[in-house]
Amino acid sequence: MWNERYATDDYVYGTEPNDFLRAAVASVPPGRALCLGEGEGRNAVYLAQQGFDVLAVDSSAVGLQKAQRLAEDRGVRIETLVADLADYAIEPDAWDLITSIFCHVPASIRKRLHAEVVTGLRPGGVFILEAYTPAQLEWGTGGPPTAELMMTLDGLVEELDGLDFEEAVERERDVVEGRLHTGRGAVVQILGRR
Ligand SMILES: C[S@@+](CC[C@H](N)C(=O)[O-])C[C@H]1O[C@@H](n2cnc3c(N)ncnc32)[C@H](O)[C@@H]1O
Repeated sequence: MWNERYATDDYVYGTEPNDFLRAAVASVPPGRALCLGEGEGRNAVYLAQQGFDVLAVDSSAVGLQKAQRLAEDRGVRIETLVADLADYAIEPDAWDLITSIFCHVPASIRKRLHAEVVTGLRPGGVFILEAYTPAQLEWGTGGPPTAELMMTLDGLVEELDGLDFEEAVERERDVVEGRLHTGRGAVVQILGRR
């Protein structure tokens, strides 16, 4: 499904980084960054432009090819890995930054992944997440079609036990990030530090 969605010349989520990531990462010093479900690479390329050494993981080979093209266009290098997050093991104590931007996977996969996010960060490392909450179903301006794939603040705080939360909110905001994410949206935003 994602390969089909990405099989167009345009970047369906745009080529600019996610708004929350751009603001949240401003205070994070460059280091090793892991981008989960990174798709066409807008966030990975932005992080590389900020000096991060980036690995972008996604199950869509088409998306990651576009990520490499964007990196080349912007004159930076990123590493990409085609992998299903259901099978992907996050290297422990290895990352200064992990991002998850609108990366909606089934709850069983997400819970295991988030436990590995905590152990995958180096001490002082930062996790940045933005995702749609179940309230997004009423807005219909992007995101998955079922509540099971959405995230809540309470659920994330539980799944990410071990992080200190510097930002942790559910809010509504105008999301204008490519033609598939445009309009008023209901999101949860997390900046957590190990
Ligand atoms: C809404 S897109 C967001 C892409 C990117 N993070 C961004 O903000 O532009 C969700 C991404 O998650 C990826 N994805 C969904 N399920 C996945 C899985 N099980 N394993 C790896 N990637 C997955 C999709 O391929 C897609 O690129």
